[in-house]
Amino acid sequence: MYYLFRKLFIAVLWCCCILQQAQAQTDLITNVDARKVTSLNGKWQYIIDAYETGFYDYRYKERAETDKEAYWNTDKPANKMDRKEHGYIERNTLNVPGDWNSQDPKFLYYEGTVWYKKSFDYVKDQTSNKLYLYFGAVNYSSHVYLNGKKLGSHKGGFTPFNFEIPDSVLKAKDNFLVVKVDNKRYANEVPTLNTDWWNYGGINRDVKLIELTANYISDYVVQLQPKSATVVQGFVNLKGPSIQKTVSVEIPELKLKKTFPISGNRAEINFTMTKFTPWSTENPKLYTVTLKTATETISERIGFRNIETQGPKLLLNGKQLFLRGISIHAEIPQEGRRAYSDEDARQLLGWAKELGCNMVRLAHYPHDERMTRLADSLGLVVWSEIPVYWTIDFSSKEVLQKAEQQLADMITRDHNRASVIVWSVGNETPVSTVRTNFMHSLLNYARKKDPSRLVSAALEVNYHSKENMRSIDDPLGEFVDIVAFNQYLGWYGGTPESCRTANWTTKYNKPLFISETGAEAVGGFHADDHTLWSEEFQEWYYKEQVDMLKRMPANYSGISPWILADFRSPRRNNPTYQDGWNNKGLIDHNGNKKKAFFILKDYYQQMQQKFK
Ligand code: GCU
Repeated sequence: MYYLFRKLFIAVLWCCCILQQAQAQTDLITNVDARKVTSLNGKWQYIIDAYETGFYDYRYKERAETDKEAYWNTDKPANKMDRKEHGYIERNTLNVPGDWNSQDPKFLYYEGTVWYKKSFDYVKDQTSNKLYLYFGAVNYSSHVYLNGKKLGSHKGGFTPFNFEIPDSVLKAKDNFLVVKVDNKRYANEVPTLNTDWWNYGGINRDVKLIELTANYISDYVVQLQPKSATVVQGFVNLKGPSIQKTVSVEIPELKLKKTFPISGNRAEINFTMTKFTPWSTENPKLYTVTLKTATETISERIGFRNIETQGPKLLLNGKQLFLRGISIHAEIPQEGRRAYSDEDARQLLGWAKELGCNMVRLAHYPHDERMTRLADSLGLVVWSEIPVYWTIDFSSKEVLQKAEQQLADMITRDHNRASVIVWSVGNETPVSTVRTNFMHSLLNYARKKDPSRLVSAALEVNYHSKENMRSIDDPLGEFVDIVAFNQYLGWYGGTPESCRTANWTTKYNKPLFISETGAEAVGGFHADDHTLWSEEFQEWYYKEQVDMLKRMPANYSGISPWILADFRSPRRNNPTYQDGWNNKGLIDHNGNKKKAFFILKDYYQQMQQKFK
């Protein structure tokens, strides 16, 4: 009898954990700015907690939710004899959104836990409405509490997430919101321990309260069907008690209104459009698309286009597309900080447009949603990537699930962005059977979730060289749509002269794309072109690379050199020429263009003419 009872108890416990986990990971709400939104951006108070005292007791046991010494519970003494050993005060505040590293010298190298606290008042418009707490991104892991109750936890530094706020937890006045953020690196996370970018910790993107009707539209796709120039296909997913019967899709500029039945909180979308202007990099036409149910109306600007490959050709709306790209980190060089604002997005993509780009590679992780929305408007196609970077633990099912979760959230957030044409499942992962299987399953996962876009990964140059013919034959090339590879001929190995005898090919009959190439230069350091770290050396490097590109094979479809702007990296420790920065930027720490910027710009002007 005892054993039966014990088994029953364990089964019930397991179900509760699954349910709690399910509650914690409420499905992502998309197009949040079209909803009833209240921003919680601004100054948040903080406690630095390197020993996680607020989370574990002195025996290193996780504190119970009601534990008065937990940092998610009030820091106000109940009376003058009530001992409190934590506190949130005005003197200790951080700006949200924003990484902590760049806000105070004491945080620059900090890796650990910081507790953030924000107070807010809130009364819902309708008691029947639901209230959610939404984070644009928090790096890396977070536990979220409101008025001493846990709302949920999340891992992943570059994708949005949201938790429902139960009526039983919300107060009209003075809600006590606390977020534990921990940016420590671990071998079994995504990314893993080793990256060539700064581990900016914090609530790095917007925080919002979202009020929704009880049965609300959570996410949807309204996009052209793959390989069709006229059929729009998609879906609308709703959440909450299923009361809605229909959803209408309206495009006023095309005098189009279609209504679709909802069954089981989902509507399949399918209709034909004939007289419309397709989105392209030359003419980034966007339409206002409005979704309406009985209780909700939401709109957003959407472009309609096709992207596909045909053998070695990359086609946008059936026309060959050559990618005049640049790789970009989500970082503002003048302040050495994570990018998070409209102004930041305008600066980074404005520089790309000045360079003559029609493409940006948002490396090595999903950037702020503003970047893909602005790319829609500017006519820049986007390569969007999850941080499966270098030496991930490819043998772990748990790590694969983490990568899939980040991939799913990246796709769900941006699958209505015409600019996004490639989902990339990683960068420079070392070739092995277990790695190729891991990456192949991510490619299949992305294709299944979004069959309308291309999938790829930035491969390492894994070639055999015969008479200077370097063939990209990474086994993963069999499973991608675009064979993309990073090469640094003349910086990591050889000299820029080496480019004069180098040729590239691939055994795969697919578009060939150089996802990285580059060399460092200290902005403002001038010398002869055989002096490493000078702007003249970097300029020479680009000249030799550009000459080499003129010999690329017919399936050469573009390049996104590394990188638009200098960025912080803890791996770059030459005290004179790096000092904690990777200076491969074409733009320096002060936002000034280096000489190499103009070599690439000139090349792109030539290529724009060639592919007119
Ligand atoms: C690699 C990697 C980048 C890195 C760059 C470099 O290709 O993809 O993340 O910053 O090379 O070495 O500068």
